[in-house]
Amino acid sequence: MARISAQGPAQAQTDITRIAAADVSHRYGATVALADVALSIRDGESVAIMGPSGSGKSTLLHILAGIVRPDAGTVMLRTSRGTVDVATMKDRERSALRLTEFGFVFQQGMLIPELTAAENVALPLLLNGARRAEAAHTAENLLDELGLHGISGRRIGQLSGGQAQRVAIARARATQAQVIFADEPTGALDSRTATDVLGALLAATAERGRSLVVGTHDERVAARCDRVVRLRDGRIDSDEAPR
Ligand SMILES: Nc1ncnc2c1ncn2[C@@H]1O[C@H](COP(=O)(O)OP(=O)(O)OP(=O)(O)O)[C@@H](O)[C@H]1O
Ligand SMILES: [Mg+2]
Repeated sequence: MARISAQGPAQAQTDITRIAAADVSHRYGATVALADVALSIRDGESVAIMGPSGSGKSTLLHILAGIVRPDAGTVMLRTSRGTVDVATMKDRERSALRLTEFGFVFQQGMLIPELTAAENVALPLLLNGARRAEAAHTAENLLDELGLHGISGRRIGQLSGGQAQRVAIARARATQAQVIFADEPTGALDSRTATDVLGALLAATAERGRSLVVGTHDERVAARCDRVVRLRDGRIDSDEAPR
C-alpha cells in the first residue's frame, strides 16, 4: 500500500464544474428516492454523500453516473467532447459514457467475476487500445502498488471484500476517467483496511485531478473529503466542509 497511500486529499480542487445536477427527482413505485436534488461536483473535488439508510445516497450516485435514468431533472457532464446531459441520454450512449468517463468502486457488480484481478484491471486499457502485453504489465504494476502483488491471478470471487475494493480502485486508475464513484467503499472492512482503501481511493483521485463522489456511513471517510453532502428523505439537508 505504501507507495500510493495518501494522508488526505492531496490535489487542490478547482472551480471548474465537472458535473452539475439540477431538479433531479426519482421514485421507485410509490417510494420517493430523490426529490428536487441539485448538486455540482468540481474537478479535483472529493465529495462524501451521507445520510441515513434509505435516504437516497446510492440512487444519487447511480443517477450521477448514468446507471439509473432519473424521472426528472438534468445531469450535465463536461467531457472532452463537450457537455452532455447524462439524464436524458439513450441507454447505449450512457453505457459508452460510463466506460470512458467514470471509474467505479462499488461493492458488487462492477468487476467482472469470471476474470482475474489482473484481467479486470487490464480491461479498460485494452478497450483504450493498449497492446495486450503492455496492458498486462501496467495492470500488474497497479495491483502491486495497492499491495495486491500475490493475488493478481485470482478471480474476483476468490478475493476478500477489501481486496476486491482495491482491485476496483486499481481498475479506476487504469481508465481515463475523470470521476470516480464509490458506494460504501469501507462499509465491509475492518478499520485498518478501511483506512488503507480510503487512502488508495483519495490518491487515485488526486493523481490526475479526478473528482471523487463517495456514498458512505463512515464519518472518517467524510472527514477526509473536501465536502460533505447530507441527504434526508431524498433531499439535500446540508452541503458543507467536513466537521
Ligand atoms: N431498486 C429499487 N426498487 C425499489 N425501491 C428502491 C430501489 N432502490 C432503492 N429503493 C428505495 O429508494 C430509497 C432510497 O434508496 P437508496 O438505496 O438510494 O438509499 P441509501 O441512502 O443508499 O441507503 P443505504 O444507506 O441503506 O445504502 C429507499 O427507500 C429504498 O428502499
Ligand atoms: Mg446505499
